[in-house]
Amino acid sequence: MSQTAAITSQLAATKIADATLKDSENKPEAVKNSTEMMTNGATSEQEQEFADPFCNADNPQIITFQDVTSAAFKIKKGIEYTPCPKSHLSEMVDMDIYLKKEFLQFTGSFKERGARYALIMLSEEQKKRGVISASLGNHAQGLSYHGWKLGIPVTVVMPSKASLMKIQKCRNYQATVIVKGVDMGEAKKIALRMAHETGLTYINGYDHPHIMAGQGTIGLEIAEQVSNVDAVVVPVGGGGLIAGIATAIKNLSPQTKIIGVESEKCPSFTKALENKAPIYTPNEATLADGLAVPQVGYNAFATTVPLLDKMIVVKEEWIALAILRLVELEKCVVEGAGASGLAAILAGHLDEFKGKRVVLLVCGGNIDTTIFGRCLERGMAAEGRLQRFTVRVSDAPGGVSKLCNLLANLGVSIKDIMHERAFIRDVNSVEVKVICETRDWQHSQEMRKMLQETYQEVYFYEMPMAI
Ligand SMILES: Cc1ncc(COP(=O)(O)O)c(C=O)c1O
Repeated sequence: MSQTAAITSQLAATKIADATLKDSENKPEAVKNSTEMMTNGATSEQEQEFADPFCNADNPQIITFQDVTSAAFKIKKGIEYTPCPKSHLSEMVDMDIYLKKEFLQFTGSFKERGARYALIMLSEEQKKRGVISASLGNHAQGLSYHGWKLGIPVTVVMPSKASLMKIQKCRNYQATVIVKGVDMGEAKKIALRMAHETGLTYINGYDHPHIMAGQGTIGLEIAEQVSNVDAVVVPVGGGGLIAGIATAIKNLSPQTKIIGVESEKCPSFTKALENKAPIYTPNEATLADGLAVPQVGYNAFATTVPLLDKMIVVKEEWIALAILRLVELEKCVVEGAGASGLAAILAGHLDEFKGKRVVLLVCGGNIDTTIFGRCLERGMAAEGRLQRFTVRVSDAPGGVSKLCNLLANLGVSIKDIMHERAFIRDVNSVEVKVICETRDWQHSQEMRKMLQETYQEVYFYEMPMAI
């Protein structure tokens, strides 16, 4: 059994007959026929798994610098040349930080580059029939948008955990959206089977050689925009982004270090390095959902490994803090994946570059509004600016008010306050639980000291600290 087959067989078998095509009126003919076939369905063939002809474990394809330059020429007209300015964060981390702002692409991420190039490179017949892919969101959006602009029908299979906002955006870009499969593994199986049945061309979002070459065009722009770069820090999911960028950068500036970053919740590339080949790595929920790919691509892995200088696994609280910093200091709204390069610096994983010139890929801005709110709060908690404590105060008139005044006099802002009497033995006391905001860690320490000096019973809830 091939490695791909072994890995995918770990996933629950998904019957294509179950696939629900929500927006049937927009479906390309081939997809409509496939739906009918699915509902009439011959199950034995449906249980079969289909491989992606472009991603072969036994024969990985390594892209070249010429592939990247060719992509740059061909996609130029449809893609934003994004800025790469020096960041306000530089002083704080004692490095010259440059931010390559790929979240400024129309659909909010770099994924448009590879998607447009892959679409342009199709034959006329393939363009007419259309393409299909599986994606959690950013690749789906890039493909849907550019397919729409180029007049190529696009079908995307998005797992049920994909964000509603990303699903809706793809529909707005006129794609046929199928929400199916619990995770990327299942969604990919469904998409591959549909490609086989309908004649649509399957485009893997990180491992198709044209996708990698398209993402590599970012490296060419960085080389034009910033001179003497010491390191480029690239978030890693399936590995297409780093494969393309490393190919461009190492060719133009061999001394520049290529650093990959993953979340601790989905360290698929690190596991692949240990295993010396891509291997299935279960993912947990992460703030960097764009990086949640359980197995890196064979082509991406083979292209990246000889060019990679360091791979970092970063903790989630640093990602939350990086999102907060990018909002506060750079006025950039960035998703977890896009903030992970800065997270690696804040966590001290790149201290060897102090005083040097470092480019961070700020590669996506598609963050759910509710997740964004939670990230900001978590970032503040991780930094010690959001504090939670319980204190027992006198239940006489003015007891709670005295606590509030003490906090106010110290400049601490109460976010939430709750008091509790029923379960307290001492009838003259009330237990007050407070969530409050301070200026910084130092300020939090001052507040703790004051409370401990004033009250006999104070309990502080410890948070995962990122300072
Ligand atoms: C915002 C963002 N950053 C980084 C990545 C990682 O790219 P790749 O899967 O090519 O490694 C993704 C992948 O979807 C992404 O959406």
